[in-house]
Amino acid sequence: MQFSPFMSVEPSATVAINSLALKQKALGKRIYNLSAGEPMVATHPLIMDAAKKAIDEGKTHYPPVSGIPELRHAATNWLNATYQTNYAAENCLITAGGKFGLYAFFQAAITPGDEVLMMAPYWVSYPAMVRLFGGVPKVVPSFPEQSWKVGPDDLEKNLSDKTKILVLNNGGNPTGILYTAKELHSLLAWAQEKKIMVISDEVYSGLTYDDHIFVSAASFPEFRNDLVVVQSCSKHFAMTGWRVGMVFAPLLIIEKLTMIQSQSTSGASSISQFAALAALNAATKIVPLVRQEMQARRDIFMRVFASSFHSLSSPFAGLYLFAALQDLGVPTNDSVSFCYQALDQAGVAIVPGKAFGQEGYVRFSFGAEAGELETGLRHLTSFIHSEYEKK
Ligand SMILES: Cc1ncc(COP(=O)(O)O)c(C=O)c1O
Repeated sequence: MQFSPFMSVEPSATVAINSLALKQKALGKRIYNLSAGEPMVATHPLIMDAAKKAIDEGKTHYPPVSGIPELRHAATNWLNATYQTNYAAENCLITAGGKFGLYAFFQAAITPGDEVLMMAPYWVSYPAMVRLFGGVPKVVPSFPEQSWKVGPDDLEKNLSDKTKILVLNNGGNPTGILYTAKELHSLLAWAQEKKIMVISDEVYSGLTYDDHIFVSAASFPEFRNDLVVVQSCSKHFAMTGWRVGMVFAPLLIIEKLTMIQSQSTSGASSISQFAALAALNAATKIVPLVRQEMQARRDIFMRVFASSFHSLSSPFAGLYLFAALQDLGVPTNDSVSFCYQALDQAGVAIVPGKAFGQEGYVRFSFGAEAGELETGLRHLTSFIHSEYEKK
């Protein structure tokens, strides 16, 4: 069969490492998984109980395509109250994970040849999704010296008459960056002036640490007509497997995405939607529990690992530490080979920076359970010391 030319998306390095880790695990090898992009804590009992109740009450049939009305209301109230936005429930679409919200938006917006601005290091799926619809990812580099942030001047250099969309990932994966209100304002004002649509992926907004605060792109009413915000229950509530996300956008966009959803997934699972409703109604209780646990794990991570590698600094948000191989004392730039070696020789699964468009770096997740984190890091540290200090 001849596949569409848009199918020539490279298989992800993340998936390759993960498959190998699973294969080795199946062969009985002890693998420490520091690659998973999820908070590995149990979903809160309140949420589980709501799902069980939905099953017992027979809420097992097709839900409305755009999501059950109670959930659209609860999600909108939560966003408005938490991030100073003022959406109506009609501006909220419930999707099967934040990922499908991004996917549906790219499908709705991209005409083949359109250029989509995104910053590297980027979340692995942005360029792949854009390519799937014939779009062209325009990758804007960012640098650790500028805290991995870009400003309008950096975007301007990558602007062309084909630029259609700007992707922001605030509460960034893999770098943990958080844009300030001032920085966000300048990016959004630039996009508005150039008539570029912005999609702001904010799925890590609840996982900020110490005194750092998250500012939503939707908190500026003057930019809302050209803005789509993607949110999710996955990270806030440790609900990655339930597959519930939300898109907040102007009505016309919600209508188009609802049409795509009606012709594809038909929406998120009804049981999961009732679970998400309980989660969002108890957000002020549950999100801080997940955040505190992730902050504690981040601190364990930094205590164990940064005691050997002094130049690493604590991430402000998200679930990841993005480290330069050089800062780990590893004298190579080849992140893929290093990750294969780390898996093979230390039994530790981590993700190569190459997958995020940033060679010479690796991504560690601190979402794993504390014991797994601590032992995995000790194995990795001894592997690095024995492998590279003898040379
Ligand atoms: C930056 C980013 N956006 C979106 C998602 C999608 O999350 P979900 O589909 O589970 O809501 C992820 C998941 O890892 C992510 O890291």
